[in-house]
Amino acid sequence: MEKTFVLVKPDGVQRGLIGEVIRRLEQRGLRLVAAKFMQVSKELAETHYAIHKGKPFYDGLIAYIISTPVMAMAWEGPNAVAAVRQTMGATRPTEAAPGTIRHDFGLEVGRNLTHASDSPENGEKEVALWFREDELVSWERALDPWYFE
Ligand code: RTP
Ligand code: MG
Repeated sequence: MEKTFVLVKPDGVQRGLIGEVIRRLEQRGLRLVAAKFMQVSKELAETHYAIHKGKPFYDGLIAYIISTPVMAMAWEGPNAVAAVRQTMGATRPTEAAPGTIRHDFGLEVGRNLTHASDSPENGEKEVALWFREDELVSWERALDPWYFE
């Protein structure tokens, strides 16, 4: 089953939106695999966002992510990566479609509330970066056949 890594970023946590993000992903039919409320270290933030090192927004991005706690989660389902990116909306809230989290709750790219893996490969990599193997829960829901064909 495809896995994706999701963060409720510090602004989402401060604004009390952890439950809203989880609600939308559960409602979509995705299955929760792991969750951890945590303060991100600078080292983990730099590893997670290594691809953006050197970009003008990099230092601000790292400072933002380590500023206060985040809710880190792994979710799974068919096409989990694409489904979750769609639920989050475009990176810039003013370009995100109505009904997405970034549209419905955001204004600025530097306060865009959530992170979600951008490919199945990165989903695997990011889940492995943020969670130990024994923190991932393999389970089946009674209603899985009504979500997954
Ligand atoms: P994310 O990785 O957080 O899920 O966001 P994303 O794929 O939609 O966007 P990405 O290009 O990976 O950018 C990562 C995060 O960096 C911040 N950012 N700021 N000021 C800017 O121009 C700018 N561009 C990106 C955002 O917080 C973005 O989510
Ligand atoms: Mg990204």
